[in-house]
Amino acid sequence: MKKITRPLALFVSILLFLPLIAPPARGAWRDPVRARHGMVAAQHELASKIGVEIMKKGGNAVDAAVAVAFALAVVYPEAGNLGGGGFMLIRFKDGKTAAIDYREMAPQAANRDIFVDKNGNLIRGEGSSTVGYRASGVPGTPAGLELAYQKFGSKKIPWANLIEPARLLAQNGYVLSYRVTQLFRSYQATLEKYEDSKRIFLNGGKIFEEGDTLRQPDLAATLGRIQKSGAKEFYTGRTAELIAADMKAHNGLITLDDLKNYQAKERTPLVGSYRGYPVVTMPPPSSGGIVMLEVLNMLENYDLRKMGYNSAQKYHILAEAMRRAFADRAEYMGDPDFAKVPTAKLVDKDYAKQRAATINLTQATKSADVKAGEVTFAEGTETTHFTVADAEGNIVTNTYTINDLFGSRVTAKGTGVLLNDEMDDFAARPGKPNMFGLIQGENNSVQPKKRPLSSMTPTIVLRMDGSPWFALGARGGPRIITAVLQSVVNMIDYDMNIQEAIDAPRIHQQWYPDEILYEPLGMSPDTLRLLEGFGQKFAERPSNIASATGIAIENGTGVKFGAIDSRSDGEAVGY
Ligand code: GLY
Repeated sequence: MKKITRPLALFVSILLFLPLIAPPARGAWRDPVRARHGMVAAQHELASKIGVEIMKKGGNAVDAAVAVAFALAVVYPEAGNLGGGGFMLIRFKDGKTAAIDYREMAPQAANRDIFVDKNGNLIRGEGSSTVGYRASGVPGTPAGLELAYQKFGSKKIPWANLIEPARLLAQNGYVLSYRVTQLFRSYQATLEKYEDSKRIFLNGGKIFEEGDTLRQPDLAATLGRIQKSGAKEFYTGRTAELIAADMKAHNGLITLDDLKNYQAKERTPLVGSYRGYPVVTMPPPSSGGIVMLEVLNMLENYDLRKMGYNSAQKYHILAEAMRRAFADRAEYMGDPDFAKVPTAKLVDKDYAKQRAATINLTQATKSADVKAGEVTFAEGTETTHFTVADAEGNIVTNTYTINDLFGSRVTAKGTGVLLNDEMDDFAARPGKPNMFGLIQGENNSVQPKKRPLSSMTPTIVLRMDGSPWFALGARGGPRIITAVLQSVVNMIDYDMNIQEAIDAPRIHQQWYPDEILYEPLGMSPDTLRLLEGFGQKFAERPSNIASATGIAIENGTGVKFGAIDSRSDGEAVGY
């Protein structure tokens, strides 16, 4: 009897104490979503599921990404879009990479001073770069998605089938979450100024409640036309006519000619490395890739692992490196088709060594003493990112945006398409403070047909043997860059898994304002005090810094691990 009860008692006590002795997860208390074949990590579960269905039917990651992007335009109206633009970074199973730039373009009638009045002051409200008809650049999303599909799709799934799930969701509707109904409510004052935005997103004035169904028949019809005739329908067909007519009726800038002339472009991905791990990312007109690599290159000069994940010393060095790279962003970066961007120099390891040599380990450098341009940029923060990995080994990491939440708030009459306010990513008054008190550089001034500078940073990190390790990106304006780079550091220097790396608290420093933004509960008071002792200044109020989604791929097995930032909504779905 004794012989039996002793091991039993031992077993029971192990079971009882298991929660105490099992090693706790660090940072994240939930695991990433695990799947053996394909995975989509997007900010709406319905969109992730649609991408997975496309892969199950034989589509590759690019096909799935196109379907996800169309679906988000319906179920994530605050940022998913047809009326905006973005960047898609692809790594194929054979190791080749591609980058598609479908950033918006300034209309031909735009000019350097379009957003200032005769006294040189920034125009506010209608006519400004942030709300109303003049705030929109020529959308790039339909063209970008079609370019991706035509060049890199599997050819196993017809174009129309990639759009059909989105069209059905627009036509039949989907159930609204509490979060999005709250967003409609908080944007009511500006959305209700525009007839179709009020009719569609504010339910004609009878604000939606959680659990209501949002139907978007105009958007369904637009998707149906694109389904039938391709992206050219958006740029030269009925949709183009409707957009141009609404623009003309409201003193907007975009004409039929602007739409007809829009082109998505293939760019060469930017490739750098961090501690030997290759990092593939987005080149200009995004500043994201360059700034991230410049910071990572500076960080290589320090043993962050030894300093500890959340030590004051590590935060200090991180903030100092960000300060320097963002100063370069302001001076040098813009649309490479218009401005000379010294990309190679900015991502050079020796250059970073020189920049890092000016960092004092116990004393913050005042932003005013950091040489480069005069400023930084104020950007909308409401973008959306999704990541897709298929069973074959192809990966897509895509960020697209209408800039602010609900973009310019204008829904082009009869189309159901919410238009962007991406003109605000240009420098409205080069060399002078904008409405946030900031100054921006001439390289990013408004010019006809120019693309505004972006911070979107879709990124893929490889193992040293060249196999894909993880892919990610984020929403959050300039904070995208610092969120992505800190997630990369977390994976490489602190051995976190993809969920932990994305969830872990982060900081943001962007040269001006001369302060560190930190997250609620993200930094201990002791650490704050130590950093203040180094001369670092902090934003008055902490706030969440961006929001990321990513997928990691296990070496050898190809098992995928999907992660959605706990700072926002969405769902990783795999099969
Ligand atoms: N509109 C945000 C960005 O492009 O960075």
